[in-house]
Amino acid sequence: MVLNTRININERLKKALSFVPKCDCMADIGSDHGYASIYAVQNGIAKNVIATDISVPSLAKTKKLVSEFSLESSIECRAGNGFEVLEKGEAKVAFIAGMGAELIADIIENSDDIARSFESMVLQPMNSAEPLRRRITNKGYKIDAEGIVFENGKFYQILKCSCGECTLSDIECELGTYVFKERIPFAAEYIEHMINHYAKILEYVGENDTEQAKVKKREAFMKTNEYRRALEWAMSK
Ligand SMILES: C[S@@+](CC[C@H](N)C(=O)[O-])C[C@H]1O[C@@H](n2cnc3c(N)ncnc32)[C@H](O)[C@@H]1O
Repeated sequence: MVLNTRININERLKKALSFVPKCDCMADIGSDHGYASIYAVQNGIAKNVIATDISVPSLAKTKKLVSEFSLESSIECRAGNGFEVLEKGEAKVAFIAGMGAELIADIIENSDDIARSFESMVLQPMNSAEPLRRRITNKGYKIDAEGIVFENGKFYQILKCSCGECTLSDIECELGTYVFKERIPFAAEYIEHMINHYAKILEYVGENDTEQAKVKKREAFMKTNEYRRALEWAMSK
């Protein structure tokens, strides 16, 4: 069956792909179903895509969908680990969405020479972006832009990165580089969500008086105060 329609994808992927600069070739790492690759080509984000996945059965899903949309001439599928299946210069932009933050950082660190060959990397971790921000900025990458998307009751972070120097404070690593710099959609809601997270920790620790509980309480109070300042800033005109 050949599909002549445009692919419909979720808000998380759509928002993450909106950070990809128009390019000749985008590498979609961990393509799985292939939605991002197809959307990128159909919407003129990338003329061509190299869709990769470490799992052969997952890549088979991409291949099937690519064939259903008759996009074989624009989307090449390669099975393999991270950037290992790419040559320097083949793709201008790397897109990695839907994986854990540590795994994304591993992929970048394991193929540093390829990672440095991209003009841009757009990263969308499924959990806290904190370790990803810390690890990549310690390895000579900078964060050029960030976004947040809220879907099905969850916040997802989007990071657009490139080679360069960037020093982040702890609060910038935890909440995002936009804190105190640029007001972005969903920032206030996300900070509020993190304040609630620490409120739950305080509730859980309760009256517990062990040394460990005291450390946790102190940390939660400190974070809550810091985050409240960030929230006030995010909500001010
Ligand atoms: C949850 S899916 C995400 C699919 C899509 N990118 C999205 O955001 O909806 C994660 C995919 O990443 C693949 N994957 C995991 N580790 C990988 C690696 N080191 N290199 C390439 N692909 C990997 C998995 O096989 C899986 O298909």
